[in-house]
Parts: sequence; structure tokens; C-alpha cells
Amino acid sequence: MDQEITDKIKQLAKEKNAIIIAHNYEPPEIQDIADLCGDSLELSIKASQTDADVIVFCGVQFMAETASILSPEKTILLPRTDAGCPMADMVTPEALKAWIAKNPPMPVVTYVNSTAAVKALTTICCTSANVIKITNSLEENEMLMVPDRNLANYAATQTDKIIHKWDGYCPFHNALTPEQVIKQKQAYPDALFMAHPECRAEVLELADVIASTSGMINIAKESERTSFIVGTEIGLLYPLQKANPGKTFYPASTAMECVDMKKITLADIAASLENLSGEVKVPEEIRVPALASVQRMIEL
Ligand code: 13P
Ligand code: SF4
Repeated sequence: MDQEITDKIKQLAKEKNAIIIAHNYEPPEIQDIADLCGDSLELSIKASQTDADVIVFCGVQFMAETASILSPEKTILLPRTDAGCPMADMVTPEALKAWIAKNPPMPVVTYVNSTAAVKALTTICCTSANVIKITNSLEENEMLMVPDRNLANYAATQTDKIIHKWDGYCPFHNALTPEQVIKQKQAYPDALFMAHPECRAEVLELADVIASTSGMINIAKESERTSFIVGTEIGLLYPLQKANPGKTFYPASTAMECVDMKKITLADIAASLENLSGEVKVPEEIRVPALASVQRMIEL
């Protein structure tokens, strides 16, 4: 069955001149069929560089929107349009506009895990891989960071800048507790603990390294350690293991499973390619201002 559907997807992708790209949290069979996998920054850059006519985005809504912002001439497909990101929905353009109106003027740094409409109100975007570089690139000493309070807390520990934090969070990363981490550290004392900056400050304090999802894959490759505790969504265990067959990876908590990142199936990809269904297209009046903030990040 899997082989049949895999062949069908490959054939359809060829016919439609489509590229399939997947986030590192997607299920194994989706990562295996993808032409490219990566973290949010890599996927944004790759989506802007391909000459395919169609991009099938295996991830969540904001990722497909970013591809549409960068490549308006391409058809961007999200095989399950109900794959969203609860953190992205924790800041609305209305609430952000109200904050901006009430406070002194300052740059707005927006995590890519946000809607296109919020990006349109933004000075510059960032991802977990470049948040420190982006923060330091701004001339201003004070800024607002949306929507992830944990990412903003992390950035604040790494720079001297004043960072106002929006009160959003990823429900799965935010739920990881120091107690769960300590338990895993006691069980695997030789393991390196890698944490994602979406985790709470008390968890990041226990981390040996803090990195994006692809950052963790690279760290595991380069490290002399042979075992690792992984403080991010458990989908990352698959590409970590694939890239490091001789090493062992333990989840910090098996409860860190993002429901939305697990929605897309091979059958959804085939149907989306066949009917060009699930198109995500950001309207021009939002796309143009949003593009400036994404482009500014990519060019840095
Ligand atoms: P990165 O892959 O950029 O680290 O992003 C993590 C994430 O939560 C994406 O939804
Ligand atoms: Fe959003 Fe968290 Fe899922 Fe990433 S892992 S898509 S931040 S809910």
C-alpha cells in the first residue's frame, strides 16, 4: 500500500513539476517522501529558492503561508488545511495593533510561527535558529517579541536589549517541566540534554545546548557524546536517528507530540497533488507588508 501511494505521489509530483518539503516534526513516512526536510528557517529559504511550479508543504498553516509570501507566483499546497499552530493563533493582528497603539514606538520581532496578517505588522521575523542574531541586528535597544514568551525570555538572556514579551507559548514545549528533565538526566547521566528555545526558562537552565530542530541534528552529528535527551517535539527523534545511526536519543517527555504536525498522511499528499487542493494563498494587501519582514530576516 505504502509503495503504491509513494509511486503515485512521485508520478504526480513529476507531472505537476512539484516539490515536497517537510518540517522535521512530520511523521517518518512524510519525511521519507519529501524532497527536502528542515527547520523553519531552512524551509523558508528553500521555499524561496526552488523553481518548481508547485510546493507541497508538509507542515502547518504558517509555514505554507510563508512560502506563499515568498513565492506568490507558485501554487502552495498544504495537504491538510486544518493543520494549524496554536501558538501562532495566540496573537491576532487586532491585539497586536492595540499593543502598538498603547506603547512607545519600537520594532516588532515576530517568530515565524505566526499568521501572515501578524507578519504584515512586523519589523522583522525570526526563527529559533536566528533569534539572537536578529535581536542584535536591530539598532533599537527595546523591542516587542511575539508570540512566544519562552523564545523572548531566551533571547533576553542572550542580549542586553529590553525585550517586551507577548504571552504566547507552544503548548507542547511549554508543558515540559524541569522535574521531567531531571528524571531523564538521572536515568541517562551521560546523555547531552538539548532543548528547544520554545521550552520554559526553568527547562532551558538545565540544558547543555539550546538549538532549533536542525541545530540539534547538527549538534548530535558533531558531538563526541553517543546519547542525547531531546527537549523538543518527539517527531525530531526520527531525523536525529536517521542522521546518527550509531547514537541513542531519548525524549525529554513522550507527551511532547504536536497534534497538528501529525495530521498529513501520504493519502492527503496524493489527493492534494492530484486535485491541486489545499491551496494556501496570502492576499496581496497582506503579502506585500509581510514579505518585507520575512525578506529582512532571510537577507541577514
Ligand atoms: P524549528 O524547526 O524552526 O526549530 O521550529 C520548531 C517549531 O515549533 C516549528 O513548529
Ligand atoms: Fe506550533 Fe508547537 Fe506545533 Fe510547532 S510544535 S506547530 S510551535 S504547536
